[in-house]
Order: sequence, then structure tokens, then C-alpha cells
Amino acid sequence: MQIIKTQQELRRQVEACKRQQKSIGFVPTMGALHEGHASLVRRSVEDNKVTFVSVFVNPTQFNNKEDLEKYPRDIERDAELLASLGVDFVFAPAPEDIYSAEEMNTTFAFDFAGLDQMMEGKMRPGHFNGVVQIVSKLFGLIEPDRAYLGEKDYQQLAIIRHMVKQMNLDTIQIVGCPIVRETSGLAMSSRNERLSDEEKQTAVNISHILFESRQLTQSQTVAQVESWVVEQINRVEGLSVEYFQIVDQTTLLPADDFSHAIGCVTVYCGPVRLIDNIKY
Ligand code: PAF
Repeated sequence: MQIIKTQQELRRQVEACKRQQKSIGFVPTMGALHEGHASLVRRSVEDNKVTFVSVFVNPTQFNNKEDLEKYPRDIERDAELLASLGVDFVFAPAPEDIYSAEEMNTTFAFDFAGLDQMMEGKMRPGHFNGVVQIVSKLFGLIEPDRAYLGEKDYQQLAIIRHMVKQMNLDTIQIVGCPIVRETSGLAMSSRNERLSDEEKQTAVNISHILFESRQLTQSQTVAQVESWVVEQINRVEGLSVEYFQIVDQTTLLPADDFSHAIGCVTVYCGPVRLIDNIKY
């Protein structure tokens, strides 16, 4: 496995793969890798001749400076894991190797067709502009045949699917992969590293309440289930819901019923912001 730091070297390796007609799989990450990332990488290694993984904590998608500073980073541990999974290339640039000063300081303009108006987009203004900025740049550099993204960040996945169409990058197949959970049910996340053992126990309630809400869909309306989930989670000491919305899986518009619906939640567990979702 080779660790690449510069765009020039990345392009050199990509062009060599293209010349040899090797299919390219790509997993974009911000590092602090866990079993959820590993599941994406395994899938890519299985499906493609070569796999590139990016490890880059993208500053332009953080609307909270403290969150950016506290984002866990451990490139050596990440590299060890990626090598063991059979990754060929890791792209781990510094921000100045990726962005000009102007790009760092201006909001990336993009037509989200409304997909950024709710949930994460509403709570974290500018977040998805930064995501589209970095992912489109990485797609342009790596020109993958397939890119693997987790369904935990469900709105991000929907926006990236829209982005490849909007930016004519649709030769890239976007492969959405299911949430990986700890045996307790807690959705795996790099942010879990910031939870104490006690907070982890508390956070487990989020997924349990989401799973339980499935039982209610026969007898209750969407609005009733939304209120029930918020109430149940807020009842747990140490948890505070930012939003829970049941939306259509494709349009992300509020769902009228449970067919093709997904419930997306963001919860603060102490200072740590956790997201999860459940398909109905
Ligand atoms: O999901 C993430 O880790 C990031 O948002 C991504 C897709 C790697 C872009 O920085």
C-alpha cells in the first residue's frame, strides 16, 4: 500500500491504473476509521482491481471550529487498518495541498435541488457545500468506477447521488452501504471515540428507540411516530434530540406514510453530536 500526499502523485498513479484498464474503487473518508469504514473498503476491494481511500479531515465542511479541532485523527492506525484490508493507495493530503486560499474561504456554490433544506443541511449551514466541494474534487482526481459511501450519513449519500448527475460525473457508480452497528446497536461513528464508557451506554438507547418505533408504524401516523421517538429519546438522561424527521428515502421530503420512508435523527449525547437512521 502506498500513501500519497500530493495531487500530482495521485494523478500519476490514477493514470497508470487507467492505462492498465484497471477498475478503480474509491472510499472517501475523514479517517478515525472503524468497522463501518472497513465494510466499505472490503466491498471496494471485492468489486474492483484497485482501491483508493482518501483520509482527509475536510475543513470546509465543518461549520463549528471546535468540532473540526476535536475531530479524531490517527493516520498511523488508519494506515495499518487499510493495509490489512488490501487497499492499494491512501490519499492523505494536507489542506493546503487540496485547496487554494480562495477555495478555503469561499462557499462552494452548488444547486442541491432542495436536498440541503432539511435535517443536517438546515442545522449545519454550509456543511453540504463543503462535502460536495471535496467529494467532487476527489472524484475528478481519482475518476473511480465506483465510490462507496455509508448509509449512516443518509442525506450526504442522497446529495452525492444527486451531485454525480448534476455535475455529469455519472459514469461513477455510487454504492450505498448499510450502517454497521456495534453489538449493542450503537451506529459506528468516528465521533463515538469522544464518548466516555458511560455515555456509550446512554447512546445505545438511540438505536433501541429507533428499532422500537418500527412496531408503531401499523397503528400510528408519521407525525405520531416522530413525536414518540423524540419524547422517548429526550426522556433518557444525557440525550437531547436535535431533530427526528421521517422523510422519503429518495426526495428527503416529509413522508406522508411509511412506504419508502426513513427516519433520520440527530442527538446530542453530552457534547457529542450523533446521527442515526432507520428505514421503515
Ligand atoms: O462522510 C465523510 O466522512 C465525509 O463527509 C466525506 C464523504 C469523506 C467528505 O469529506
